[in-house]
Order: sequence, then structure tokens, then C-alpha cells
Amino acid sequence: KKYDPTIFIIFGGTGDLTKRKIMPALYNLFLDNWLPEEFAIIGTSSSKMSNEKYIAELFSAVNEFSRTGKATKADWEKFSSHITFQDADITNASAFKPFGKLIDKYKKEWKTPPSIIYYCAVAPHFFCSIAENINKAKLDNDPKTTRIIIEKPFGSDLESAKDLNKKLLSIFEENQIYRIDHYLGKEVVQNIMAFRFANSIMEPLWNRNHVEHVQISVTEQIGIGSRGNYFDNAGILRDMIQNHLLQLLCIIAMEPPTNFNADEVRNRKVDVLKALRRIESGKIETMSARGQYSSGWIEGEEVVGYREEEKVKPHSNTETYAALKLHVDNWRWQGVPFYLRTGKRLFKSASIITIQFKEIPHNIFVSENTGPPKQNRLVISIQPDMAIRLQLQSKVPGLEMNLNTVDMVFDYAGSKKTDSPEAYETLLLDAITGDQTLFMRADQVEAAWEFIMPILNYWEKNTDQNFPNYAADSWGPENAEALIAKDGFHWFNLPEKNKKD
Ligand code: BG6
Repeated sequence: KKYDPTIFIIFGGTGDLTKRKIMPALYNLFLDNWLPEEFAIIGTSSSKMSNEKYIAELFSAVNEFSRTGKATKADWEKFSSHITFQDADITNASAFKPFGKLIDKYKKEWKTPPSIIYYCAVAPHFFCSIAENINKAKLDNDPKTTRIIIEKPFGSDLESAKDLNKKLLSIFEENQIYRIDHYLGKEVVQNIMAFRFANSIMEPLWNRNHVEHVQISVTEQIGIGSRGNYFDNAGILRDMIQNHLLQLLCIIAMEPPTNFNADEVRNRKVDVLKALRRIESGKIETMSARGQYSSGWIEGEEVVGYREEEKVKPHSNTETYAALKLHVDNWRWQGVPFYLRTGKRLFKSASIITIQFKEIPHNIFVSENTGPPKQNRLVISIQPDMAIRLQLQSKVPGLEMNLNTVDMVFDYAGSKKTDSPEAYETLLLDAITGDQTLFMRADQVEAAWEFIMPILNYWEKNTDQNFPNYAADSWGPENAEALIAKDGFHWFNLPEKNKKD
């Protein structure tokens, strides 16, 4: 495919995100011939630096973080010839002038007018000033060819998200704004849409008549690392649930779109957020659970508790674990509970969605050895294992009629095309081609905040006196077990093959 020439201007060009995600993604797109022939990457940060030094820094970052491993000298030289460093104080409009000059230079060199992508890979309090200064410095802002990518967090509550949307929309049009939720770019997450809407056998089962309950679980082994400053003010409800987990929920619960256009798909997702039953403050204790990790051991290494982490308040009441029970109030899902959970410093890192189907209506297999047949489950494993498995009951070969669970599985590792792109590769290519399907629209972000706000407010007002309440290397706090156990269910920790010994 041929794409228009593209100029990336990356604000935060020396930052962590650029080094870990953006540059390795651009490099891999380049290697796989996805980038247009004419492209330029302008990295920017406040301190002065030579082009050579900048490119050398990026070289070691790409070598460390690229999924394709070490870059060869020849490939890197070809790729890095497209990179320029330009220092700029992003709070000062006159510092944006050099970007205009660089853009003009490329426009003169190239025959086709380029697309311009402003990438805000900076702390959120800079988003507005970047947009304002692009405007003040009269940099390119043609709605057809200019885009701005905004990283998370998008606001810290409903008010600030609305405010940010208002400011951005006073300078850019909605179809120029690409709000990233990197979970939407993950390979298996995208496959959920294909799985649901390109097969005729799924949709008839995908509703209250057949589904008993749904679990969306994103567990992480890592702690908060060096992000204490940010995380202690955010908490996991803002950091993970408001965006990633609610987006996963939307893809599972959405109605079939009538086509695959960005707005149609996003309309159907917004419908889900609007249908979420609001949790009133009186019900929050029974519909949610929260936790904070204490010290412990992870894979043989001693780790500190959350309150001992750098830049965390010693009596912090910020949650590092959260679980919610949700209802989607519409015809399809009435009466089907959705359980969401996510946390840091847990036993394993795994993002898994499980759809548990109802029990068979009548059991004809009476076996003392195996008990009644287990319920069917569809297990969508996003990471680290990438697989979709349908768990069925089957006869154990032999003379007796005994049953056990077997998996019908699409395992990415076993398929020929194992080398799946990273989420950022998918998302960056979509930004290049101008496809907003996997990006968050203003009303999506606001609807998610609107749902989260009562819980956020309640948790901030009513601190948990039991913190810290779960040990590192566990599956989380007891109250999260109780949340689901009172409905007669339990958290599915990992598919059989990864079970804790
Ligand atoms: C980020 C959160 O959005 O997602 C982090 O801020 C979290 O706290 C990360 O660790 C998880 O992403 P992934 O792709 O590693 O599952």
C-alpha cells in the first residue's frame, strides 16, 4: 500500500514512552515496509542535544525494546536518516517556529503534500499548551492532513476530561484527535471483533440466554516502579479501569455494528458505557473491592510494600487493586454480571477475558468420578499467552462414560504467523492512514469517566482502614474473593496449563 508522506513531530522525544514504545514501533513499521517512502521524524525535548547523540540514544532504546531484537547497522542507518532532533520549550509558542521551518523544508523536497502527526508523548499537563502553541505558532492544522495523538491519562476526572476535550476541540476537529488506549491495539483484542462478527455461531450464544457471567481480569506482577508520583495521585481505578478494562468490556458487550467505520464502531461502544448501571454510593461497598499491596517476594526477589515505594505517601490510601461487579442494562445482557479486576504485584501477569456459559439444563451423566459436567467457557487470553480457547466437555477415552474438559484452541504461538505486531505499531499505522476506529472519541472518554466518578468519589472520601490488605505474589485481597463468592462464583485465575503449582 502507498501512504502519503508523513511527518511525525514527537513532543517528549527523549522520554520513556518514545524510547520504549513509539520508536521501536516506528522502526518495526519501517522494517516491514509499512512507512511511506517519504517520512520524517522530528523528536523534541527541552534540552539541547545534537542529532548524533539523539540518534545514538534511540539506537540503544530500539535495541533494548524492539520486538524484533537488535537493529542491524545498515537498517538503522537507513531508518535514522529520517530522524531530526529539535529542542523546544513546549510552553513557549515562539519555540515552535523551527517546526514550521522543518515542515516547509519537507514540503519543498517532496512532491505530494505530507500528513503531519503531532504526537504528545508528554505528561498530561502539557497537552493543552502543545495544542495552543501549535495554533499560536500557526503550524499546519489542515483537518484533512493534520492529526494530533494524545496519550493517557486523558483527564483525572470527568471535569478535567471535559475541559481537555473542550480545549483540544477549540483548535482541532474531532477527526484530527487520536486519543490512545493502547489496549485497543493489542492483537487479540482486535480479534474479538473478528471472532464475534465474522462467525455465525458466536452471536446466537452471545447474550443473557446463554451467558452466565463474564470476567475481565488484567493482573500484573510489576509494582508501580518509578511512577510513584503519578500513581499515588491516580490509583488503579483511574490508571486501568477507566480506560483499558472498560474498553475491553465494551468490545465484549457491544451490539454488532452495521459496518466497520470508526464512528459506527465507536457509537456501539458508547452505547455500552451508557447502559452501565450506575453504582450509587450506598451500593459501592457491595459492588466493588479495593486493595493495596504489602511487601513480599516475587520470583525470588524481595519487593517492598506500596507505602514504601519511592514518592508514595507513607500512609497513602491509594488502591493498587480494584474489582467491580457491573451490569449492562439492556436486552442482551440483563441479569448477566460482569466482574472486572486488575492489580499490581499479583502472582502472575495475565490479561484474560472469560465468558462462562450457563449450566446444561439437565444432566444425564451421573459419574461418581467426575461429578456433573463443567460449564462451557470461552477464554480469551490477551497476554502473555495469546489464545482463544473454547472449553467443552468430552468423554475420557476408555470403557467408562467419564467426562473431562477439553480445549478447542486457537493458539497464536502455534499458528504460522506468530510474529504479531505490538499495539503501538497497529495504532501508529492507523494514525498514518487516518483510521480512528481504535482510538477513543471525546464522548467515549467522558462516558467512561461519568460511570467511574461515583466510585472514585466514594473511595476518596471513605478510605480503607485495612490497607495494605494483600501480599505481593498473591491473587489480591480477600474482599475481592468475597465480592464474587457471594454470587456463587470464583475468579478464574489462569487456564489450566499456567496454574500455580
Ligand atoms: C498503562 C498503565 O496504561 O498500562 C500501567 O498506566 C500498566 O500502570 C500498563 O502497567 C499495562 O499495559 P500492558 O500493555 O503492559 O498490559
